[in-house]
Amino acid sequence: MSRVLVPVVFSSLLISGLAFAGSDAIKQRQELMEETRDAAKVIGGMLRQKQPFDAAAAMAGLQVWKKTAMEAGDLFPEGSESGHDTEAKAEIWTDREGFNQKLTDFGTAVDAAIAANPDSLEALGAAAQPVFKTCKGCHEGYRVEKEE
Ligand code: HEC
Repeated sequence: MSRVLVPVVFSSLLISGLAFAGSDAIKQRQELMEETRDAAKVIGGMLRQKQPFDAAAAMAGLQVWKKTAMEAGDLFPEGSESGHDTEAKAEIWTDREGFNQKLTDFGTAVDAAIAANPDSLEALGAAAQPVFKTCKGCHEGYRVEKEE
């Protein structure tokens, strides 16, 4: 009897485990993207001169983006394609190579911005604009357009 039961229990645990992992990953990546946006607001606010340039705050924002670049790749596992109002497009799973390339482009731009260590508004603009382009570059193909 246990020979029959064990596989059944095991496989149903596995299935619910996967479903949990899926919605968990969606929440985690949405939170990560929210942090990413908060950093973008600080840096964007300086660039639009809505708040004074602050080199340390700018660098802190760039470091948040660095964290995004390092962590985002693991937060789109199989099984997390739907649910939780995800805005992730199916293309992430059908064209993983393309998605990974966009993530690499973002990480490369962030690394360059950190290396530039911007110490003026002009330098921050030169460092951050290429990063903003890569946010858009990924969202265009891999995130569902929504009214915000
Ligand atoms: C490699 C791809 C990629 C890059 C680069 C990227 N994003 Fe995203 N972003 C996504 C995807 C995919 C979602 C949808 C996630 C979901 O809902 O499951 C998303 C969602 C978001 C959201 C909505 C979060 C929520 O509450 O649901 C914001 C805000 C956001 N991104 C801002 C940014 C900003 C700002 C940058 C650049 C500094 C950036 N993203 C870079 C792919 C990317």
